[in-house]
Amino acid sequence: MPNTAVGGGRNTKILGIESSCDETAAAVVEDGSRLLATSLLSSAAIQAQYGGVVPEVAAREHAMAILPVVDWVLREAKVGLGDLDAIAVTQGPGLLGSLLVGVTFARTLGSALHLPVIGVHHLEAHLYANALEEPIRFPSLALLVSGGHTSLFLWEGHLALRQLGQTQDDAAGEAFDKGARILHMTYPGGPQIEKLAGLAQRKNLRLPVADMHGRLDFSFSGVKTATQALYDKHIQEPEEVAYALQDAVVRALIATVRRAWQQHPVKDLYLAGGVTANGAIREAFAHLGDSLGISIHIPPVSYCTDNAAMVAALGYYKWQAGDRMGPFEGPKVLFPLGQEGD
Ligand code: KG4
Ligand code: ZN
Repeated sequence: MPNTAVGGGRNTKILGIESSCDETAAAVVEDGSRLLATSLLSSAAIQAQYGGVVPEVAAREHAMAILPVVDWVLREAKVGLGDLDAIAVTQGPGLLGSLLVGVTFARTLGSALHLPVIGVHHLEAHLYANALEEPIRFPSLALLVSGGHTSLFLWEGHLALRQLGQTQDDAAGEAFDKGARILHMTYPGGPQIEKLAGLAQRKNLRLPVADMHGRLDFSFSGVKTATQALYDKHIQEPEEVAYALQDAVVRALIATVRRAWQQHPVKDLYLAGGVTANGAIREAFAHLGDSLGISIHIPPVSYCTDNAAMVAALGYYKWQAGDRMGPFEGPKVLFPLGQEGD
């Protein structure tokens, strides 16, 4: 359904570009909701050889991939360069060399075509993957669970996120990635932990969840240490350990969101970020929605992980708000979002 909530519906075409980590992605989205085409090249298989993302390798792969990825997506969308209204690009947070490739490409193309360039926040973009499905309903709660961040927001309106809590140490994705390393699996660990956990039979090993003393925050560094200790004891049952790890992450997320809802009893909860591709997490939140009587929105699995459709979707709302990258602005490696008091 076209999203006309903020005066859209003019067939505004935005090219989105994403290069903050190890995925080079481009997409064309119309009016912030209709996806015309999307393309993505990942260097994850190359990074897996090193056990994690090597920044120099990621940057080099982006530099090689960006032109073919953009070229392909424009052809697939049947959109000429002259049909574009704006270019949205992930400005941060992320790896400097990786971000530089996307931002420089976007700025160069924008300058050659006299198009506005909009810098978007990667995490805010993750949440806007939900706008590709249906118009966002406000006020709502928004939980972002990715490889680098675990944050909870009150989503008060377009471009208006108020942070309620965040991880005090590791992100949920890091818990999966580090847990996978303990179990001798390669990066990215989340999908492999999920697969291994699916083989568990007994499902009776438990890992502790950090007590946040009523705050709306998260903590996952203890889970990592406890996973190592549990694996040392149950080395013959890696699938049971994987299940325990996944279950601990699920319980931590659900407990904090439930607490947040008691303080902010909204009707909608939006989830986003790579970790929300996880089937157990999706299922647990569906149950939470039933028990609280609220709607749970999670993007399709392929739009939970990094992509450019979410960048173009958010770009549309920023374009409408007149938000443009300044002439001397570059990537923002550290880029706070919706921090309390903002
Ligand atoms: O959002 P994302 O693609 O990149 C960041 O912005 O960080 O998230 C990547 C993270 C990685 O930690 C990866 O292990 C995790 O998402 N992930 C998963 C699953 N798929 C990706 N974690 C658990 N289960 C999955 N199925
Ligand atoms: Zn991401």
